[in-house]
Amino acid sequence: MANFKPEILELYEAAKKARENSYSPYSGFKVGAALRTVDGKIFAGCNVENSSYGATICAERGAIQTAAAAVGSFKIKEILVVTDASPAWPPCGLCRQVITEFSDNATLHVTNLKGELRTLLMAEIFPNPFTAADLKK
Ligand code: THU
Repeated sequence: MANFKPEILELYEAAKKARENSYSPYSGFKVGAALRTVDGKIFAGCNVENSSYGATICAERGAIQTAAAAVGSFKIKEILVVTDASPAWPPCGLCRQVITEFSDNATLHVTNLKGELRTLLMAEIFPNPFTAADLKK
């Protein structure tokens, strides 16, 4: 078992469980994600691919969709992604934009099944995002 501190382990286990349900017949890459909201709730998602490829939904956006459906309004405190890749995968550009929509510089944990972990801030990998504030300018 990965030697993570309890809060990260909780997200890791939730993300790994969701990853098991990954629908990834085209890429063969199973991805899981789990987020913790600012008020402490955990939601998970997995990647769901499509024969048209472009309609694929990443695990991170799946977790966000699950949270939105369950609680409506929420902010992400931290989000963890798990794959079996080494080094661990960071979120794609589209997911960075969507994570940003629901967070204020959330903490991001990128992990894999070996238990490698890298923790960073969204602002490090997605600086100067386009946000709702830009729509008013
Ligand atoms: N994928 C994710 O689910 N999250 C990421 O951060 C990167 C990529 C998925 C999309 C696709 O199903 C597969 O991984 C390969 O790109």
